[in-house]
Amino acid sequence: MAKFLALVTITVAVVSSCHVSATEPAGADRNALLSFKSSVQGNSLSHWGSHRTWKGVKCDSRGRVISLELSGFKLTGVISPAIGNLSALEILDLSANQFSGVISPVIGNLPALKILELSANQFSGVISPAIGNLSALKILDLSANQFSGVISPAIGNLSALGLLDLSYNQLSGSIPPELGKLSRLGYLSLHNNLLTGVIPETLGLLKSVTYISLYYNNLTGDIPDICNCHSMTTIILYENKLTGEIPFSTRCQLPHLDTLDLSDNRFVGVIPSSISNFTNLTMVHLDDNKISGAIPRAIGSPPLLETLSLSNNMLEGPIPSEIFQLQTLSELDLSYNQINGGIPETLSNLTELNQLILRNNRINGEIPKSIGAAQQLFFIDISYNCLQGAIPETLSNLTYLQHLVLKDNQLSGPIAWS
Ligand SMILES: *[C@@H]1O[C@H](CO)[C@@H](O)[C@H](O)[C@H]1NC(C)=O
Ligand SMILES: *[C@@H]1O[C@H](CO)[C@@H](O)[C@H](O)[C@H]1NC(C)=O
Ligand SMILES: *[C@@H]1O[C@H](CO)[C@@H](O)[C@H](O)[C@H]1NC(C)=O
Ligand SMILES: *[C@@H]1O[C@H](CO)[C@@H](O)[C@H](O)[C@H]1NC(C)=O
Repeated sequence: MAKFLALVTITVAVVSSCHVSATEPAGADRNALLSFKSSVQGNSLSHWGSHRTWKGVKCDSRGRVISLELSGFKLTGVISPAIGNLSALEILDLSANQFSGVISPVIGNLPALKILELSANQFSGVISPAIGNLSALKILDLSANQFSGVISPAIGNLSALGLLDLSYNQLSGSIPPELGKLSRLGYLSLHNNLLTGVIPETLGLLKSVTYISLYYNNLTGDIPDICNCHSMTTIILYENKLTGEIPFSTRCQLPHLDTLDLSDNRFVGVIPSSISNFTNLTMVHLDDNKISGAIPRAIGSPPLLETLSLSNNMLEGPIPSEIFQLQTLSELDLSYNQINGGIPETLSNLTELNQLILRNNRINGEIPKSIGAAQQLFFIDISYNCLQGAIPETLSNLTYLQHLVLKDNQLSGPIAWS
């Protein structure tokens, strides 16, 4: 969604900045297009050049090609090096086809290029460092291909870049610290690659960045200090080998942060209380780490929290009562920790709660009768705890309930189903 919005905003800016006319491609640009066509298979381009039809091509009044937009044209083949002759090209969009082969370094000869969109093809080989010459480039999307090798530090030269998406490839090596020079970068997506090494400190310099996703790599080391990235909305780092503490000091202000997913890593230490200052948080996933200590009361402060998943850590102490004030909460998963104490009557405040997963803890006391007021519950798993007393009849009030697991407690009585 964030990416889509970024694309729309930047595309609109590009289109309105050039005067498009219906002129046909002329001279060397026409030859370059015919050469491009000759290395491509697929019917969509069969009329190119005849009857003045150039589907997907836009030219300026001098017949220079300014955009080549062939997304989803069912094309197979390679990109002819002749593309490097289209020196007025501003938009090259070949996404969602079956292009293969490497990207020739001639791509670096396109000084006006603002959008390079090659996602969802079968391009392979290394991403040519010549891409670093594209000084006007705002969008670089090479996601969902088979690019391998390292991410060239030359990408740090793309000083106009707003969106960088290299996700779903086989890129290896480490993230180049030079990315920290991309002062206009809003969207950084490198997930689903084979990246190793640390997240460079320099990413903390990206003042405009709103979205960072680095999940499904083998990144190690600590998370750098990102507390100056004040525009940040989304941080997704799950399935790496990151260590150290969650680095949000009390001076950390991320007022727009909406999604924080650090699950499946090796984080230690406590959940920082500064989280209470992240007033736009809706999703916090810290599961499958080695986080310890008590769940801080501050976790109940972000007023819009919908999903809180802290499963499979080393958390202890009671569930802070503040959690039961979170009226927007829809999923609460605290399973596989060492949480004790009871479930308070105020559970009834959670009128949006869908899933309550507390299994494998040391929770005691009775299941509060007020559970029947948490009307949206459809999944309850409170098994493997120390709950006692009668199973409340009010469970039968939960009309959406589909999954109820109570085993391995000391509960008694029948379950009344309506
Ligand atoms: C591209 O430009 C080079 C140098 O001007 C020229 O030799 C070549 O024929 C051109 N190729 C095409 C396909 O237009
Ligand atoms: C991470 O490294 C492990 C061990 O070397 C390997 O099995 C795994 O496939 C790697 N995962 C990714 C996403 O690179
Ligand atoms: C929230 O931010 C204020 C202002 O920077 C700071 O004084 C306070 O300590 C922060 N609260 C927490 C719990 O970190
Ligand atoms: C909830 O269930 C109890 C016991 O089954 C019943 O007496 C009560 O009226 C129900 N409350 C609502 C709001 O349906």
